Amino acid sequence: MDLLSIDSLGDDQIATILDRADVHFAANRARQASSALTGRVVFNLFYENSTRTAMSFATAAHRLGAAPVFLPVEQSSIKKGETFEDTARTLNAMRPDALIIRHRENGAPAAMALVMDCPVINAGDGTNEHPTQALLDAATIRQHFGRLNGLKVAICGDIRHSRVARSNAALLPRLGATVRLAGPPEFLPDGLTPLSVDDAIAGADVVMMLRIQRERLEADLDDGPGEYLERHGLTAERLARAAPHAAVMHPGPMNRGIEIESAVADDPERSLITLQVEMGVAVRMACLELLAV
Ligand code: NCD
Repeated sequence: MDLLSIDSLGDDQIATILDRADVHFAANRARQASSALTGRVVFNLFYENSTRTAMSFATAAHRLGAAPVFLPVEQSSIKKGETFEDTARTLNAMRPDALIIRHRENGAPAAMALVMDCPVINAGDGTNEHPTQALLDAATIRQHFGRLNGLKVAICGDIRHSRVARSNAALLPRLGATVRLAGPPEFLPDGLTPLSVDDAIAGADVVMMLRIQRERLEADLDDGPGEYLERHGLTAERLARAAPHAAVMHPGPMNRGIEIESAVADDPERSLITLQVEMGVAVRMACLELLAV
């Protein structure tokens, strides 16, 4: 079994991942290691930059007793012109127990899965999906509120380029939450009813801000940084429109002072951003355990 998209998971598998993530979260805090995957080898291929996701998958593998192995893409034979399929066949011949892949092209993890005999996990492909991010977001919300059912989640910013938004829009409604996607019109995908950040935030239980993905933009922004924050970013003033108990999330990396004001990102009462990172390790442990046992 592969984990390529949210739709590739059944409801029972999602429930298992979220429940096991809670168990791993508590065990990690208590510094109790698991030996569920002792002797297994997990390959990590990051063709795009990553801090959180790469470190989190590696930490998850270690905490389960497995050995994460990184391919340093910049120094690999990919740079000598090897085709993607040849790289896949080469890696498959080493018989890893799981392979994690992030790639700038939509569908690259699915192409990798066609060749690999082991489970393949999508760690973010282009503008398509980032399923483990959505799972860790769901687990974080559930940890904080004790439930997902009935919550209103506003996802705001560069929706058009966001694989995080796409995976969350597929996952959270399956768990009973309502998702509102909002941003400046140029950042909303065609076919989506335009919604301003102000309107999306009104009464929301969770406000999830997204990074402006400059590397995927054809032209630079019309607004300067201060102007973007003023018009579409999360300031304390704008957050006051949300429910009084509203929580703030961001998948990272943040552009402070652009899509989110520093004071809001660092607000210990409201911000779940560090909790998201901590939960990320637990969720990826749950995913590896489900797939690679
Ligand atoms: C996101 C990604 O790479 O898709 N980051 C992450 O994995 N935590 C979001 C982003 O790059 O803005």
